[in-house]
Amino acid sequence: MIRRLFRPRVSCVLLLLCSIVLSYSTAVVSAAVVTLDSIEIFRTHEWFPSKPTVYFQCKGENMTVLPDVKEKHVFYSFKGEESWQPLTELQDIKCKRCGFYEKDTFVPNDVFDEWEFCASDFMRSDGRYIHYKEKELNATFLCPECVRLGGASNHSSKSNNSPKEMHWAVILVICALVSVVFIAGFVTAYKYWQKRKKQQEQARFLKLFEEGDDIEDELGIGPLSHIV
Ligand SMILES: *[C@@H]1O[C@H](CO)[C@@H](O)[C@H](O)[C@H]1NC(C)=O
Ligand SMILES: *[C@@H]1O[C@H](CO)[C@@H](O)[C@H](O)[C@H]1NC(C)=O
Ligand SMILES: *[C@@H]1O[C@H](CO)[C@@H](O)[C@H](O)[C@H]1NC(C)=O
Repeated sequence: MIRRLFRPRVSCVLLLLCSIVLSYSTAVVSAAVVTLDSIEIFRTHEWFPSKPTVYFQCKGENMTVLPDVKEKHVFYSFKGEESWQPLTELQDIKCKRCGFYEKDTFVPNDVFDEWEFCASDFMRSDGRYIHYKEKELNATFLCPECVRLGGASNHSSKSNNSPKEMHWAVILVICALVSVVFIAGFVTAYKYWQKRKKQQEQARFLKLFEEGDDIEDELGIGPLSHIV
Protein backbone atom coordinates (compact mmCIF):
# COMPACT_ATOMS: atom_id res chain seq x y z
CA MET A 1 0.00 0.00 0.00
CA ILE A 2 2.77 2.41 0.93
CA ARG A 3 4.34 1.71 -2.45
CA ARG A 4 1.24 2.79 -4.32
CA LEU A 5 0.90 5.86 -2.11
CA PHE A 6 4.47 7.15 -2.30
CA ARG A 7 5.87 6.23 -5.72
CA PRO A 8 3.93 8.83 -7.77
CA ARG A 9 4.67 11.52 -5.21
CA VAL A 10 8.42 10.79 -5.30
CA SER A 11 8.55 10.93 -9.11
CA CYS A 12 6.53 14.16 -9.09
CA VAL A 13 9.02 15.84 -6.76
CA LEU A 14 11.91 14.55 -8.90
CA LEU A 15 10.34 15.90 -12.09
CA LEU A 16 9.70 19.25 -10.46
CA LEU A 17 13.29 19.57 -9.21
CA CYS A 18 14.77 18.60 -12.57
CA SER A 19 12.54 21.05 -14.45
CA ILE A 20 13.51 23.86 -12.08
CA VAL A 21 17.21 23.13 -12.63
CA LEU A 22 16.69 22.89 -16.41
CA SER A 23 14.74 26.13 -16.72
CA TYR A 24 17.39 27.92 -14.67
CA SER A 25 20.15 26.63 -16.95
CA THR A 26 18.35 27.58 -20.18
CA ALA A 27 17.86 31.07 -18.78
CA VAL A 28 21.61 31.29 -18.24
CA VAL A 29 22.61 30.21 -21.77
CA SER A 30 19.89 32.22 -23.54
CA ALA A 31 20.81 34.98 -25.97
CA ALA A 32 20.78 38.70 -25.28
CA VAL A 33 19.32 41.21 -27.72
CA VAL A 34 21.65 43.89 -29.12
CA THR A 35 20.32 47.19 -30.48
CA LEU A 36 22.11 50.04 -32.21
CA ASP A 37 22.13 53.12 -30.01
CA SER A 38 23.91 55.56 -32.29
CA ILE A 39 26.20 55.70 -35.29
CA GLU A 40 28.32 58.21 -37.10
CA ILE A 41 30.18 57.44 -40.33
CA PHE A 42 33.26 59.43 -41.20
CA ARG A 43 33.39 58.55 -44.88
CA THR A 44 31.55 56.83 -47.69
CA HIS A 45 33.05 54.45 -50.19
CA GLU A 46 31.12 55.66 -53.17
CA TRP A 47 33.03 56.79 -56.21
CA PHE A 48 30.17 58.96 -57.37
CA PRO A 49 28.51 61.49 -55.08
CA SER A 50 25.43 59.36 -54.37
CA LYS A 51 23.79 58.37 -51.11
CA PRO A 52 25.32 55.24 -49.56
CA THR A 53 23.35 52.23 -48.34
CA VAL A 54 24.88 51.23 -45.01
CA TYR A 55 24.06 47.89 -43.46
CA PHE A 56 25.07 45.78 -40.48
CA GLN A 57 25.54 42.03 -40.79
CA CYS A 58 26.80 39.13 -38.73
CA LYS A 59 28.17 36.11 -40.57
CA GLY A 60 25.38 33.64 -41.36
CA GLU A 61 22.64 36.14 -40.57
CA ASN A 62 20.45 38.48 -42.58
CA MET A 63 21.72 41.95 -43.32
CA THR A 64 20.16 44.89 -41.51
CA VAL A 65 20.02 48.01 -43.68
CA LEU A 66 20.19 51.30 -41.76
CA PRO A 67 17.74 53.33 -43.86
CA ASP A 68 18.47 56.69 -42.23
CA VAL A 69 22.25 56.68 -42.34
CA LYS A 70 23.05 58.60 -45.51
CA GLU A 71 25.44 61.40 -44.58
CA LYS A 72 28.96 61.33 -43.21
CA HIS A 73 29.82 63.32 -40.08
CA VAL A 74 26.21 63.25 -38.93
CA PHE A 75 25.41 61.74 -35.54
CA TYR A 76 22.44 59.36 -35.84
CA SER A 77 20.81 58.40 -32.56
CA PHE A 78 18.23 55.60 -32.24
CA LYS A 79 15.58 54.63 -29.74
CA GLY A 80 16.06 50.89 -30.15
CA GLU A 81 12.46 50.43 -31.34
CA GLU A 82 13.00 51.15 -35.03
CA SER A 83 11.52 48.71 -37.53
CA TRP A 84 14.94 47.20 -38.32
CA GLN A 85 15.98 46.77 -34.67
CA PRO A 86 17.30 44.73 -32.92
CA LEU A 87 20.52 44.22 -34.84
CA THR A 88 21.38 40.77 -33.57
CA GLU A 89 21.55 38.50 -30.53
CA LEU A 90 24.66 37.52 -28.61
CA GLN A 91 25.26 34.45 -26.46
CA ASP A 92 27.49 34.38 -23.45
CA ILE A 93 29.97 31.83 -24.79
CA LYS A 94 30.22 32.61 -28.49
CA CYS A 95 31.37 35.72 -30.35
CA LYS A 96 30.03 36.59 -33.79
CA ARG A 97 31.89 38.00 -36.76
CA CYS A 98 29.97 41.16 -37.56
CA GLY A 99 30.52 44.38 -39.41
CA PHE A 100 29.20 47.53 -41.03
CA TYR A 101 29.23 47.51 -44.81
CA GLU A 102 28.20 49.65 -47.70
CA LYS A 103 26.19 48.13 -50.49
CA ASP A 104 27.63 48.51 -53.96
CA THR A 105 25.89 47.82 -57.18
CA PHE A 106 28.75 46.58 -59.32
CA VAL A 107 31.83 45.96 -57.17
CA PRO A 108 32.06 43.82 -54.00
CA ASN A 109 30.58 45.54 -50.96
CA ASP A 110 32.82 47.94 -49.05
CA VAL A 111 33.69 47.36 -45.44
CA PHE A 112 33.59 50.09 -42.79
CA ASP A 113 34.78 47.61 -40.20
CA GLU A 114 34.44 43.94 -39.38
CA TRP A 115 35.22 42.51 -35.95
CA GLU A 116 34.49 39.79 -33.39
CA PHE A 117 31.38 40.93 -31.57
CA CYS A 118 31.12 39.42 -28.07
CA ALA A 119 28.78 39.72 -25.13
CA SER A 120 31.86 40.32 -22.98
CA ASP A 121 32.51 43.59 -24.91
CA PHE A 122 29.68 45.12 -22.90
CA MET A 123 31.52 45.97 -19.73
CA ARG A 124 29.99 49.34 -18.88
CA SER A 125 27.26 49.29 -16.26
CA ASP A 126 24.89 51.21 -18.57
CA GLY A 127 24.97 48.28 -21.04
CA ARG A 128 26.68 50.26 -23.82
CA TYR A 129 29.60 49.33 -26.02
CA ILE A 130 31.32 51.85 -28.29
CA HIS A 131 32.96 50.52 -31.41
CA TYR A 132 35.21 53.11 -32.98
CA LYS A 133 37.41 52.85 -36.04
CA GLU A 134 39.46 55.81 -37.10
CA LYS A 135 38.31 57.49 -40.34
CA GLU A 136 35.50 54.95 -40.70
CA LEU A 137 32.83 54.98 -38.01
CA ASN A 138 31.82 55.36 -34.39
CA ALA A 139 28.94 53.11 -33.34
CA THR A 140 27.37 52.61 -29.92
CA PHE A 141 25.53 49.38 -29.15
CA LEU A 142 23.14 48.77 -26.32
CA CYS A 143 22.73 45.40 -24.58
CA PRO A 144 21.98 45.55 -20.82
CA GLU A 145 21.64 41.74 -20.65
CA CYS A 146 25.14 41.30 -22.11
CA VAL A 147 26.74 42.87 -19.04
CA ARG A 148 25.43 39.97 -16.96
CA LEU A 149 26.27 37.37 -19.66
CA GLY A 150 29.78 38.76 -20.16
CA GLY A 151 30.45 38.57 -16.44
CA ALA A 152 29.17 34.99 -16.38
CA SER A 153 31.35 33.89 -19.30
CA ASN A 154 34.39 35.57 -17.75
CA HIS A 155 33.73 33.67 -14.59
CA SER A 156 33.37 30.21 -16.11
CA SER A 157 36.00 30.59 -18.85
CA LYS A 158 38.64 30.07 -16.16
CA SER A 159 37.97 26.34 -16.35
CA ASN A 160 39.26 24.37 -19.32
CA ASN A 161 35.95 22.79 -20.30
CA SER A 162 33.44 24.67 -22.39
CA PRO A 163 30.99 26.36 -20.00
CA LYS A 164 27.96 24.93 -21.80
CA GLU A 165 29.23 21.36 -21.45
CA MET A 166 30.10 22.02 -17.83
CA HIS A 167 26.59 23.25 -17.30
CA TRP A 168 24.93 20.10 -18.61
CA ALA A 169 27.34 17.90 -16.70
CA VAL A 170 26.50 19.73 -13.47
CA ILE A 171 22.76 19.41 -14.13
CA LEU A 172 23.09 15.69 -14.85
CA VAL A 173 25.10 15.10 -11.69
CA ILE A 174 22.63 17.09 -9.58
CA CYS A 175 19.65 15.19 -11.02
CA ALA A 176 21.38 11.84 -10.47
CA LEU A 177 22.30 12.75 -6.90
CA VAL A 178 18.78 13.94 -6.11
CA SER A 179 17.32 10.72 -7.55
CA VAL A 180 19.72 8.54 -5.57
CA VAL A 181 18.97 10.40 -2.33
CA PHE A 182 15.22 10.14 -2.91
CA ILE A 183 15.31 6.44 -3.76
CA ALA A 184 17.58 5.68 -0.81
CA GLY A 185 15.30 7.68 1.49
CA PHE A 186 12.24 5.92 0.16
CA VAL A 187 13.75 2.45 0.57
CA THR A 188 14.91 3.23 4.11
CA ALA A 189 11.51 4.64 5.07
CA TYR A 190 9.75 1.63 3.58
CA LYS A 191 12.00 -0.85 5.39
CA TYR A 192 11.58 1.03 8.67
CA TRP A 193 7.82 1.06 8.23
CA GLN A 194 7.81 -2.69 7.53
CA LYS A 195 9.90 -3.32 10.64
CA ARG A 196 7.65 -1.14 12.78
CA LYS A 197 4.56 -2.94 11.50
CA LYS A 198 6.08 -6.31 12.26
CA GLN A 199 7.05 -5.21 15.77
CA GLN A 200 3.58 -3.82 16.42
CA GLU A 201 2.00 -7.05 15.23
CA GLN A 202 4.29 -9.06 17.47
CA ALA A 203 3.50 -6.79 20.44
CA ARG A 204 -0.23 -7.13 19.80
CA PHE A 205 0.17 -10.89 19.54
CA LEU A 206 2.10 -11.07 22.83
CA LYS A 207 -0.46 -8.84 24.55
CA LEU A 208 -3.25 -11.12 23.37
CA PHE A 209 -1.32 -14.01 24.86
CA GLU A 210 -0.88 -12.31 28.22
CA GLU A 211 -4.55 -11.40 28.33
CA GLY A 212 -5.36 -14.98 27.53
CA ASP A 213 -3.16 -16.11 30.45
CA ASP A 214 -4.93 -13.68 32.79
CA ILE A 215 -8.30 -15.03 31.83
CA GLU A 216 -7.07 -18.57 32.34
CA ASP A 217 -5.75 -17.67 35.79
CA GLU A 218 -8.99 -15.99 36.76
CA LEU A 219 -11.11 -18.87 35.59
CA GLY A 220 -8.70 -21.37 37.09
CA ILE A 221 -8.64 -23.52 33.99
CA GLY A 222 -5.73 -25.02 32.13
CA PRO A 223 -3.57 -23.25 29.55
CA LEU A 224 -5.40 -22.12 26.40
CA SER A 225 -2.31 -22.08 24.26
CA HIS A 226 -3.28 -25.12 22.26
CA ILE A 227 -6.41 -23.26 21.07
CA VAL A 228 -4.51 -20.27 19.65
C1 LIG B 1 16.21 36.12 -42.89
O1 LIG B 1 15.37 36.54 -43.95
C2 LIG B 1 14.49 35.54 -44.42
C3 LIG B 1 13.73 36.09 -45.61
O2 LIG B 1 13.63 37.46 -45.57
C4 LIG B 1 13.56 35.13 -43.29
O3 LIG B 1 12.68 34.12 -43.70
C5 LIG B 1 14.37 34.65 -42.11
O4 LIG B 1 13.53 34.35 -41.01
C6 LIG B 1 15.38 35.69 -41.69
N1 LIG B 1 16.24 35.13 -40.67
C7 LIG B 1 16.48 35.78 -39.52
C8 LIG B 1 17.39 35.08 -38.58
O5 LIG B 1 16.00 36.85 -39.26
C1 LIG C 1 31.68 57.99 -30.24
O1 LIG C 1 30.34 58.26 -29.86
C2 LIG C 1 30.11 58.37 -28.46
C3 LIG C 1 28.64 58.64 -28.24
O2 LIG C 1 27.85 57.60 -28.63
C4 LIG C 1 30.97 59.46 -27.86
O3 LIG C 1 30.79 59.49 -26.46
C5 LIG C 1 32.42 59.22 -28.20
O4 LIG C 1 33.20 60.29 -27.73
C6 LIG C 1 32.61 59.07 -29.69
N1 LIG C 1 34.00 58.74 -29.97
C7 LIG C 1 34.71 59.35 -30.92
C8 LIG C 1 36.13 58.95 -31.01
O5 LIG C 1 34.20 60.15 -31.66
C1 LIG D 1 36.71 39.84 -18.03
O1 LIG D 1 38.06 39.52 -17.80
C2 LIG D 1 38.98 40.50 -18.29
C3 LIG D 1 40.39 40.01 -18.04
O2 LIG D 1 40.41 38.74 -17.47
C4 LIG D 1 38.71 41.83 -17.59
O3 LIG D 1 39.58 42.82 -18.09
C5 LIG D 1 37.28 42.25 -17.81
O4 LIG D 1 37.00 43.43 -17.08
C6 LIG D 1 36.31 41.15 -17.39
N1 LIG D 1 34.97 41.51 -17.76
C7 LIG D 1 33.95 41.48 -16.91
C8 LIG D 1 32.62 41.86 -17.47
O5 LIG D 1 34.06 41.12 -15.75
